[in-house]
Amino acid sequence: MAEERLILGIETSCDETAASVVRGRAILSSVIASQHELHAEYQGVVPEIASRAHAERILPIVRGALAQAGVGMADIGAVAVGNRPGLIGSLLVGVSAAKALAWSLGVPLVGVEHVQAHLFAGLMHQAGQPATPPPAWPALGLVVSGGHTALYLAHGPERLERLGGTIDDALGEAYDKVAALLGLAFPGGPRVDQLAQTGNAKAFTLPVSRLRPDSLDFSFSGLKTAVRYLVQGVPGAEEPVPTLDDTRRADVCASFQHAAIAAVELKLTRALERAPGVGTVIVGGGVSANSLLRQRLTTLTQRRGLGLRLPAMGLCLDNAAMIAGLGHEILARRGWASDPLDLTAHPTASPA
Ligand code: KG4
Ligand code: ZN
Repeated sequence: MAEERLILGIETSCDETAASVVRGRAILSSVIASQHELHAEYQGVVPEIASRAHAERILPIVRGALAQAGVGMADIGAVAVGNRPGLIGSLLVGVSAAKALAWSLGVPLVGVEHVQAHLFAGLMHQAGQPATPPPAWPALGLVVSGGHTALYLAHGPERLERLGGTIDDALGEAYDKVAALLGLAFPGGPRVDQLAQTGNAKAFTLPVSRLRPDSLDFSFSGLKTAVRYLVQGVPGAEEPVPTLDDTRRADVCASFQHAAIAAVELKLTRALERAPGVGTVIVGGGVSANSLLRQRLTTLTQRRGLGLRLPAMGLCLDNAAMIAGLGHEILARRGWASDPLDLTAHPTASPA
């Protein structure tokens, strides 16, 4: 039966080398090798270092995913790969590996869009655990990651209508830059989240970006600059900058997080008001691991009687299970027809 095929997923769009085996929306294995330690001293991902590390790691990671799932290469019925958007050198490693595997196994190949896959993560479950039924469409999709921050009206897992997005930094990028200002290790999002829990969110009043009254776009650069002034002082000002001790650092984290998440809630609320037919909010991307975002979105959707699909913690950050899951969906819909073997990697998202 076609639906019983095992899909091998491969993800190398940025600084995680990942492979996974899934059956439909059930995850049999998910193996992720992060490169954080290789990029930490640069406070950001260095593309050349990233692609080199992917090339070294991809085969052991694929073998690891097969072993964790307890299956062999011959059991794989299709190969899915994240082929856009991302760092071109990084994407090419995954795309080349996926093509070679699909060709040698004689199975279909499918290229998957990374941002769409982030939203699919919240619809997946571990094998052996109960599946949640797919949401009714249209749903409202929110992607908050290190590279993307956008709202979508989702007419289906691959049919995303973009409603708005960031005009400057992505939310995760703002977290990472604030973390760098505070002297926290890269990627600092999780550390800011953790410190915020011990800080006072009312210690500093930071700007919540609204943009025009009807805007569904996001902007985090003003907030980031406000944090810079708190930490380094306002340029040209006479007053000395208070020492950045642990209390002040935690208060800055809490105040920043409060303003950043309030901006997300505001835009989500605006979007929901314009899309009365939506019954579910689906969230994805690295920042969907954020504790305050998860709490606030749970409250917001409960108050409105809406469903909420948040990825399990292991599926928020870049992973290959979401690629394999969406790959299965696409292949099943089109009768298991393969993408051509000249499938290319693209640095940008597909045009909406
Ligand atoms: O989805 P992802 O792995 O990569 C992209 O596709 O961009 O997201 C990584 C981002 C980083 O910016 C990281 O700091 C952020 O997600 N992040 C968090 C948390 N966990 C990861 N940001 C805030 N709070 C967290 N708990
Ligand atoms: Zn991502």
